[in-house]
Order: sequence, then structure tokens, then C-alpha cells
Amino acid sequence: MNVSIIGTGYVGLTTGACLAFLGHKVTCIDTDDNKIAMLRSGKTPIYEPFLSELLVDAQPNLRFCTRLEGAVQDADVIFIAVGTPPLPDGSPDLRHLSAAARSIGQYYAGNFTVVVNKSTVPIGSGNWVDSLVRESYEEHHGHKANGHFSVASNPEFLREGAALSDSLYPDRVVIGSDDERSLETLYTLYRPILDQTFAPPPYLPRPEEVGAVPLISTDLASAELIKYAANAFLALKISYINEIGQLAGKVGADITQVARGIGLDARIGTRFLQAGIGWGGSCFGKDCAALVSTAAEYNLGMPIVSAAREINKRQREHVVEKLLGELKILKGRTVGLLGLAFKPNTDDLREAPAIDIARKLLDRGCRVRVHDPVAMERFQQEYGDMGALCCAAPEEVADEADAVVLVTEWHHYLELDWEAVAARMRSRILLDGRNALDRARLRRLGFHYLGVAG
Ligand SMILES: NC(=O)c1ccc[n+]([C@@H]2O[C@H](COP(=O)([O-])OP(=O)(O)OC[C@H]3O[C@@H](n4cnc5c(N)ncnc54)[C@H](O)[C@@H]3O)[C@@H](O)[C@H]2O)c1
Repeated sequence: MNVSIIGTGYVGLTTGACLAFLGHKVTCIDTDDNKIAMLRSGKTPIYEPFLSELLVDAQPNLRFCTRLEGAVQDADVIFIAVGTPPLPDGSPDLRHLSAAARSIGQYYAGNFTVVVNKSTVPIGSGNWVDSLVRESYEEHHGHKANGHFSVASNPEFLREGAALSDSLYPDRVVIGSDDERSLETLYTLYRPILDQTFAPPPYLPRPEEVGAVPLISTDLASAELIKYAANAFLALKISYINEIGQLAGKVGADITQVARGIGLDARIGTRFLQAGIGWGGSCFGKDCAALVSTAAEYNLGMPIVSAAREINKRQREHVVEKLLGELKILKGRTVGLLGLAFKPNTDDLREAPAIDIARKLLDRGCRVRVHDPVAMERFQQEYGDMGALCCAAPEEVADEADAVVLVTEWHHYLELDWEAVAARMRSRILLDGRNALDRARLRRLGFHYLGVAG
């Protein structure tokens, strides 16, 4: 099938690479000239494990361009995968979505095509996008669109850091559409994934437990709500264990053991139940805010989702309070932060706890030394003027440091030469923001080890 993807970011590029690998002819479009130039020269603009390899394998079926013209007429499916960042009031900024929909209308030539919202969009956006495409078509052609196109919703559930595996071996595919032909088209598009009939790339073998993938076919509004409801649930699971973690700290309980004891109950599950600094990234905060904002339009409060957001904010403040409690004075102290990306295996810094924590420490007069295995370049581009000192090696964050904080649990950090780290520090305070390190060993090495909860 011919597929066009508008927006070549974490979602668009992953989707494009996977669909091209499966044999579809894919055009990835982005307004960012640099991104397209990089992709055309064989470079990957984001860090995602195995993406470079997949792009090479998918290359015969992939092309990249900056203009939509020429990529609408022949497309069986057009994905919209542009960003929908939050506005100050929590509602999503739909400018990119609107621009993408209007360009589709401009170049639409009357062929049958399915326009798919893959961006996370507020409930009701399907109908809105449909009207924008039609309006724009009419403006540019002087008459109503008489061809057959329809708008469907196909929310994306990938996790950065495991995006390719999540796309090739998803837990489910959700498609929201009121149009039978569009549903059939998307079913055909996803068939190799749904039936798992493709030969996996050698670097991304099919997990043994993966069988046929369930297809959830719904109306538009349900598909749109599924995405928000899923993200809010994952966010509140993390905030729940963080709230319990605060109490665990007060009563002297071990939150790691508590979480395991809870999580092994099959009704609860162990995933997303690790206490720590809390979530970051471009999705959970934004989607929780959007859910609350949508509910408010219907005069509905969302106290559980709102509380999850508050608790997440508190966890970051808690890191600074904990350091203050230990060091008494923060002015003039040196704190090393291990990890900048919002989670391991990505270079994404959007809403990363490290940025917030670094800012809070700098505001209090601390010197902040930072390291990340892959996000340093992006950090320097986006936050270079913040005042944090970038270190070339992880051990260097410990130089003359009064405290070191593990912010992102990169595998690399779990296996650091902690003895060498200790030797470089002025005082050996180690705040394990992810409760991920071997605390008994670190205490034996002379660290004053602190978990984040309690
Ligand atoms: N990143 C994730 O883990 C993830 C997971 C699930 C869903 N989502 C959702 O998917 C959407 C995209 O997220 P992302 O992380 O890929 O964003 P991103 O910022 O990485 O990528 C968006 C891309 O769209 C491009 N763009 C903007 N307007 C355009 C236009 N009119 N025409 C062509 N290109 C345009 C931008 O230049 C950018 O490269 C968002 O709605 C997000 O909430 C993201």
C-alpha cells in the first residue's frame, strides 16, 4: 500500500520505518528541513535502539521530503503524526494538527484515502480534522470534495526506548472509524502485524510469547479516549506507588519490597510500580493535563488524574528537599546528576525530571554537573545556557561533589565503577532517584545511600 506520514518525529519515523520494513511504500514528510536532510543522508535524528538498522533495511521502500505535495494523490493511507504539546492551560496545542489537515485538503485529488490521526488528539478531533480537510479542499479547488476520504483514529502506544519492538509486536492495535472501507484498508495495512506473518529483523526477534495481535475496532471517540485513559492509568500507577513510598519512608518500610509484594498480585502487576522520581516525557504529563481539560469542558472533575499529576510534581521537589535535609545548605554545593533523558534508551528530554531538578538546584545556588550516555548533545542544544556543567564521562559528575543523584536508570550507571565515583566525591551522599542501585554494596563502599521514597 502507499502510505504518507506527516510528522517524522519519534512516532512518525518509527511508524514509517516499520511499515516500510513490512513492504509498504512509505513517504515521510516533515517541515523540519534539517531532520529530512539528515534522514536523506542516512543519519537518524533521534536515538532509538535499532532504528538506524531498521531504516537501512526499510530504505528501498522509504522516502523523505519536506512537502506534502505529491504525497497525497497516491496515498491509500495518510498518517498525521505531528506534535500536540500542551498549552499553558493544559489543553493540547493543535496548530500542527490543523496545519497538517489543511495541507491534506489542499493537495487532495479525489482518490480514496484514509486520513489517520496517530497524534494523540482530544476527543472529537476526528470530526474536526475531517471538516478542516474539506474546508481547505473547497478553498483551494472552489468546490466541495467529492472523492471518498474519511478520518480514522489509530492511537499510538509505543514506549520510547522500545519503540520498534512495541510497533512490530504491540499488545493491541486500536482503530476508531465509522467507515467500513477505511477499517478494511487499515486492517490490510496492519495485517502482517496483526497476524505476525512477517520475518522479524535479526536485531528485533519476535518475543516467544507474541501471537496474533488483538485488533480493537471502535468508533472515533472511543479510540481517542482509549489513548488518554491508558496513559492516565499508567501515570497514576506510578504516582500511587510514589505516594505509598512517602508513607513507607515515614514508617520505616522498604518500598521496593512493598511494591513487589503488591505487584505479584496478578490483578495489579509489577510493571509501572517502581517508586522513584516519577514520570517524565512528552506524553504522561501532557495527556493527563488534556484529559483534565477535556473533562472540565463537560463540567467534570478528574480528581484521581489531578492527584497523580500533583504527586509527580512533588517527587521532583522531594529530591531537592532531601538534599537540603542532608547538606543543610545548598548554596555553593556541587551536585552531580547521572542521567538527563526522561528514561533510559532515549535521548528525549521533554519534561525530563533531570531538567527540573537541575533548575531547582541551580536556582538555590548549587553547582550542577551532568552526564547522559546519549542525550548530552540534545541537552547542550536545548539547555546549554542553563548553567549546568556537562561531563564527558559519568564518573566526572562526582568530582568534588557533595552529592550525586541517579536520575535516569541507564544500565550503564547501574554498573559504574562506584568505588572510583566515591573516591572523587567531597562527601559521599548518593541519592538513588530510581531505587535501582545495589544499596547494600554502595553502603559497604562508604556511601551514605538514600532512596527517593521516604
Ligand atoms: N513520543 C512518544 O512516545 C509518543 C507515544 C505515543 C503517542 N505520541 C503522540 O504522537 C504525536 C507525535 O509525537 P512525537 O513524540 O513523535 O513528536 P515529535 O515532536 O518528535 O515529532 C513531531 C514532528 O512533526 C513535525 N511537524 C509539525 N508540524 C508539521 C506539519 N504541518 N507537517 C509536517 N511535519 C510537521 C515536527 O517538525 C516534528 O518533527 C503527539 O501527539 C504525541 O502525543 C507520542
